[in-house]
This record gives sequence, structure tokens and C-alpha cells, in this order.
Amino acid sequence: MPKWLDNAVFYEIYPQSFLDTNADGIGDFQGIINKLDYIRDLGFNAIWMNPCFLSPFGDAGYDVADYYTAAPRYGTNEDLKRLFAEAHRRGIHVLLDLVPGHTSVEHPWFRESMKPERNAFTDRYVWTDSVWEAPESMGCLRAVSQRDGSCAVNFFTCQPSLNYGYYNRTRPWQQSPEDEGPKATLEAMMDVMRFWLTMGCDGFRVDMAMSLVKNDPDGLGTIALWQKVFSVLEREFPEAAMVSEWGEPEKSLRGGFHMDFLLHFGPSHYNDLFRCEEPFFSDRGLGDASAFVERYLESREKAGKDGLICIPSGNHDMVRLAKHVEGDQKKLAFTFLLTMPGAPFVYYGDEIGMRYVENLTSVEGGFDRTGARSPMQWDSCVNAGFSAAPKEKLYIPQDPAADRPTAAQQLTDPDSLLNLVKQLISLRQAHPALQNRGGITFVSKGEPKQALAYEREQDGEKLLVAINPFREAVEFSYTGKLTEPVFTFGGKAFQNGERITLPSVSAGIYKLG
Ligand code: NOJ
Ligand code: CA
Repeated sequence: MPKWLDNAVFYEIYPQSFLDTNADGIGDFQGIINKLDYIRDLGFNAIWMNPCFLSPFGDAGYDVADYYTAAPRYGTNEDLKRLFAEAHRRGIHVLLDLVPGHTSVEHPWFRESMKPERNAFTDRYVWTDSVWEAPESMGCLRAVSQRDGSCAVNFFTCQPSLNYGYYNRTRPWQQSPEDEGPKATLEAMMDVMRFWLTMGCDGFRVDMAMSLVKNDPDGLGTIALWQKVFSVLEREFPEAAMVSEWGEPEKSLRGGFHMDFLLHFGPSHYNDLFRCEEPFFSDRGLGDASAFVERYLESREKAGKDGLICIPSGNHDMVRLAKHVEGDQKKLAFTFLLTMPGAPFVYYGDEIGMRYVENLTSVEGGFDRTGARSPMQWDSCVNAGFSAAPKEKLYIPQDPAADRPTAAQQLTDPDSLLNLVKQLISLRQAHPALQNRGGITFVSKGEPKQALAYEREQDGEKLLVAINPFREAVEFSYTGKLTEPVFTFGGKAFQNGERITLPSVSAGIYKLG
């Protein structure tokens, strides 16, 4: 278990949209390097970057054409290596995005695999043995070459499924994870990991980590596969950190992942908090966090004490936090996000409350995700300081609103969301109880018009976090004794014996007597 995860706080960077330094309208590695001080000064000590490898960008880079080469639009492998070094110099770890489930149709492995003559890549992808039979999957590619068979796709049709075998096999073309083809696929992916870890990256966010072994309803085959990967990684790269896009910590952490995300899909009730018509973080008091809390506690119980369950502020696949969480509610949402166990992940721009840009035409397979991927708003210069390219050349159009938030403006405003995020990260680093591995006990589960309150505890320190998004004061019972607050927003809690009253739209973190 990499020790550095004990207090890691992550910032997710969508490289296309972060900072463009050569005026081509697309963000680049140099842009990320230029902003490492900004990231460090906010208190982040880790970064996850979305895929930055050679790709036709049919799915924003999640369709890799060469796992070993940086996409030229971002820079070279040398630039990426420099990015790792510059980040490390500032105490920042960097995770790359590994896409093991599929490649682009342009990947040379797929080109070889399409050939009718048997070769080293024939079994690299999931193919049926007749073009008239389709695999049961997201869809398939048929008659794309003279190979007689259909190839399963893992996501979009430009993303053929790499072959890690089938857990339940019912057709002759379905291979076992122990067959030569699937074993070679896994070995090839291990080599990709070795290459970047040796170059200086600190681990990976793993795309669709649950999708590798097919016909695997309970995930048992995929869990076993990851256990194999981790037995090698732990030996060769014990400091490498791995976070899965899985959304079911009880499975992913059993597979050996150090962290798993709660996501907008899956059983976690994550959307109840920030992404639905009546989210918990709203002053209307109609939202309900209790199903989330119940499910979270179950996952923690089943996942064991070592794995980290990570609750992101958002990511490149869902609408921005600011779409449903309004005004000061964003501050309450961040109080929650930055005081929960697990490693926090903040999606670039969420720290300033960037809006979801409505009604955009899809860019690079973004579809309705495009509005959550618009270029970072740095300052009030042209293109919000993102790029010196003409506005029409920007990767994605920016929020057109005159009052769009910017980092520069919020840095100078002591009451800004950005400064609250900064303050909370610094508190998290100052208090072991608030850090990634600390314990949690809920004392109020955020039912409609109720507070969300929980004790955090580690190394003999215990704190109470209490949040009330509702527009009226709320009460809950609590047997502990609050002493001084280490943080408040919107007013202080009032304790009368075993009753605590929280002012409307407020949050606080309290020491206990
Ligand atoms: C999940 C990624 O986050 C998403 O952006 C991508 O489209 C799919 N996986 C396919 O790789
Ligand atoms: Ca650029």
C-alpha cells in the first residue's frame, strides 16, 4: 500500500482544456507544467490526467492508438517526463489514465488482428468465429476486414474490446483468461504500465476496470485478473497507486486496487448528493443523503480497512457540480467532499464553480459530457486566459456568461469558493482525523430537512463535521461535547445538552471535549 496515499488530495486534469501554451486552441503538457504552482498552492499533492496518448480522439483519447507515445498535440514523451519531474519537485504525484479494456481501431494490434491470416494478434481482441455471429456486448464491428468474425466493442464502436477471456464460456470462440491470447493481452498491458512507471509516473487511474473479463456477472474473473496484476506491481513498483473506475469498492478493492471511485453510475447513490433534480446539497431540503450513507457504510464494511473509497467532485463524464448545486451550497458540498475518508478528487474548474456549458455540439465523442469539459477559466483576459488562439479555434467553446468565474478573481476574494477549498485542504492536512484513512461514524444521515453530521477519528484525534444545506435551522441529537470550531461557514452550531442546532445553510468542523 503506497504510503503517500494516506494524505493524497487529487486534482483531475483534462489536458485538452487546461492551458494552451502554443495557441493551437488545445491544452498541452507545458500548460500543465505552468500551472503546477497553482495546483500546489491550493494544497493538492496529486494529479490524475486523462489519456494523453496517440489517438484519433474518437472518444477524447480513450481510444488509444499507441500506448507508448504521447499525443503530439500535448507534447512529446520527453515533455511528459519533464512534467513528472516538475510535479515531483513540488511534492505532487501524477497518475496517468490507463485504458486496458479497448484500443482505437487504428491501433496496430487491431490492424493485425483484422487480418484473416493467423498472427500474433489474432486473439488480442474478442472475436467470434463467424461474421454471422455477434458477441453479446455493447455492440460489435462486423465485416471491417476479410477476417471471418465479429469483434466485440467495449464502449463506442471505435473501441474494440481487448481479449482477457470469458468467465462463463458458452461458445467455442470464447477463451479462458488462462488461454494464450488473453494471457498475452494482460502481459502487454503490464508492459505499458512498466514503461510509464519507469519514466516517472506514480500510478494509474484505470478506465472501466470492471470490464476486462467478459461474461463475468459477479466480477469474479476480473477481480482475479487484477489480483494477478497487483501481485506483480507490488513487487516491481510498490509505490505505484491505482484507482479504478469501477464504482463498487467491495469488488475493486478485493481485486487489489488501492482506491475506487463512487460514480454517477453504479449502486452508490452518489447522484443523490449533487446530481439530480433535488440534490441533498440544496436549500429546498427535499434531497435525501441517507441512502448514500447506508450504502457507503456497507461498502466500507465489505471493502475492508485498507482500501480508499473516493468521492469525486465530478469528472469529465458527468455534468458539472455547479449544474444542480447552487450558490453557497457548493461550499457545503466541498466541506463534505474534503472531510470524508478516502482520497478526495477535485475535477479541474470545480474549485471555482465552473458551470456546465449547455447546448454544445459534441466534441471528440463528448456528447452531453462536452459541457463539462470546456476550457479552464483562468482570468479575465481573452479566452479566460486559456489560449491565445482565436476564439473559434478553442477545443470546446467556453462559458459565454459575463460573470463566469475565474481563478484569478477568486484568488483575490477571501470569501471565494476557491479560498474555501484551499482552507479545507489545509485543515485536512493539519488534522489526522480528517485524512484519507481516518474512521467515520455518522450521527445524522442527511434525511430531507436534516443535517449530515459525522465524527472523524484517527490517531487519538476526533472531530465532528456538521452540515445543514436547508434554508432553516435544523437539530439533531448528539452525546459528544463540542468545543472550539476549527472551521465554520454560515454560523456556528449551538449545543444544548444532547441537542445540537445548526443555523440554516451552514457547515462546521468541531473539536470534541
Ligand atoms: C470511461 C471514461 O471516463 C470515459 O470518458 C470513456 O468514454 C469511457 N470510459 C470509455 O473508455
Ligand atoms: Ca496547445
